[in-house]
Amino acid sequence: MQFQIGSVTIPNQTVLGPMAGVTDLPFRLLCQEMGAGLTVSEMISAKALIFHNAKTEELMQTRAKERPYSLQIFGHEPEVMAEAVELLQDKPFDILDINMGCPVPKVVNNGEGSALMKDPTLIEKIVAACAQHTPRPVTVKMRLGFDKEHINVVDCAKAAEAGGAKAIAVHGRTRSQLYRGEADWQPIVDVVKAVKIPVIGNGDVKNGPSARRLLQESGCAAVMIARAADGNPWIFREVVHYLETGQESEKPSNKEIIAMIRRHAALTEEIKGEKRGILEMRRHAACYLQGFPGASHLRQEINQVTTFRELDALLAREFPYA
Ligand SMILES: Cc1cc2nc3c(=O)[nH]c(=O)nc-3n(C[C@H](O)[C@H](O)[C@H](O)COP(=O)(O)O)c2cc1C
Repeated sequence: MQFQIGSVTIPNQTVLGPMAGVTDLPFRLLCQEMGAGLTVSEMISAKALIFHNAKTEELMQTRAKERPYSLQIFGHEPEVMAEAVELLQDKPFDILDINMGCPVPKVVNNGEGSALMKDPTLIEKIVAACAQHTPRPVTVKMRLGFDKEHINVVDCAKAAEAGGAKAIAVHGRTRSQLYRGEADWQPIVDVVKAVKIPVIGNGDVKNGPSARRLLQESGCAAVMIARAADGNPWIFREVVHYLETGQESEKPSNKEIIAMIRRHAALTEEIKGEKRGILEMRRHAACYLQGFPGASHLRQEINQVTTFRELDALLAREFPYA
C-alpha cells in the first residue's frame, strides 16, 4: 500500500533506515531493487555542505533510478541548516530529512542529532528554516526522547509538524539507550494520535510479522528497517510480500546470497573504486555470510582480501556451486 510524504508518493510501506557507514549508494540501490519503498542517505553535516567538503559530495551520490530518495542532514543552527538546504537546490533527491536521533557523543555534544530533542522550540525553528528554503517535503527522524526521564517525542513531533514537517520517523528508543534493549513502540502510538502527518515507525522490525505488528499496533503509515537490512536487502521483498499476502517468503538461497555479494562488490568497485571500495566491501560481505557454516573463519579470510579479484576468487573457492 502506498503512502504520501507531501507531494512524494512512496510506493509501499517500507523505508530503509539511514545507517552511516552502511547505507551508501551501492547498498541503497540493492535495497531499492529488493523493494524498499524509500531509501535515505547516510547523515550529512550541514556545516560540511557549506564548506563543500569532498567526502560530503560523495555521501550525496545517487542514481536516476534511486527514486524516491531522501537526503538526511544534521546540524543545530537554523541559519546554517537553511544555507545548506539552499545549496542543495540542484541536487537530485526527493525528500529532505533532518536527523534528530543520532546518539553519538561527537554529534550530541555539539547540540546536534538527539540533543535537539531537549529543545522542541528549536526543532520547530530548524524545520521551518529548512522548509522555507526547499520546495521538497521536509521530514524529521527522532527518538523517544533524550533519556527515560524525558520521553518527549510527542512534543517534539508536534513541534516538527508546526515547523512544516511532512512526515516523522520515530525510533522507539531514547538517546541513552543507544541501540540496547527492546524498542518501545507505545510512544509511536502516541505520536500517531498527536500529529496529522504520516509517522514512520522504527525499531526492531526484523521480518514481515514484526512489520505488520508495528503497523497494526501503532497505526503508523510505514515501517523503517535499518539493522535487519544489513547483509539482507531481501528483507524488503519479504516484508512487502508479507504485508500484501500474510505469507512468509522463502529465504534467499546460498546461491542468491553469493550472487548478491558479487553484485554489491561490482557496484562498490564501480562507484568507489578499488582502494576504498574493497575495504568497505569486506564488512558488507561478512554481513551477508553471517549464519553460514564457518562464518567466523570466512570473515577472517574476507578481512585479508585487498582487491575485488581476490574477493571473487575467495567466493569461487568457498562456494564453487554459486
Ligand atoms: C551503524 C548504524 C548507523 C546509523 N546511522 C544513522 C544515521 O546516519 N542517521 C539516522 O537517522 N539514524 C542512523 N542510525 C539509526 C537507524 O536508522 C535506526 O533508527 C536504528 O538502527 C533502529 O532501527 P532498527 O532496529 O531497524 O535497526 C544508525 C544505526 C546504526 C546501527
